[in-house]
Amino acid sequence: MKSAIRTAVLLALFSPAVWAAGALPTVEVYKSPTCGCCGKWVDHMKANGFKVVTHEMNDVTPHKQRLGVPVGMGSCHTAEVGGYLVEGHVPAEDVKRLLAEKPQAKGLVSPGMPQSAPGMDLPGKVPYEVLLVRADGSTATYARH
Ligand code: CU
Ligand code: CU
Repeated sequence: MKSAIRTAVLLALFSPAVWAAGALPTVEVYKSPTCGCCGKWVDHMKANGFKVVTHEMNDVTPHKQRLGVPVGMGSCHTAEVGGYLVEGHVPAEDVKRLLAEKPQAKGLVSPGMPQSAPGMDLPGKVPYEVLLVRADGSTATYARH
């Protein structure tokens, strides 16, 4: 019986989900308390193994400026993870790729509210792009979804 419990504990400790959560940095999210889709994106990140700390505020603009969201490319919420900016409804897989590749860049933006992005999840499949914001503030396509 004891060894069965020990085996179960060891299996839990070495499961991929636990490893992933341990290896991923915490996501700091700045969001309005009244916006629902931001909360759904937070759930999406948690479901993909990230720890998330949310900071609720009525005006997220100072954080967008501090982290370097290009003018006109904002979304509802702004996040910070591993020293990178993550603006809007960026899929967790893109954030994981960013953290693995560690480019010399400010981070990723998903401008506006793409209806098929995680946290939006509206019916229908509408393609959207996630952009890399380079250190100089210029952007390039990072992923197509
Ligand atoms: Cu949104
Ligand atoms: Cu929102």
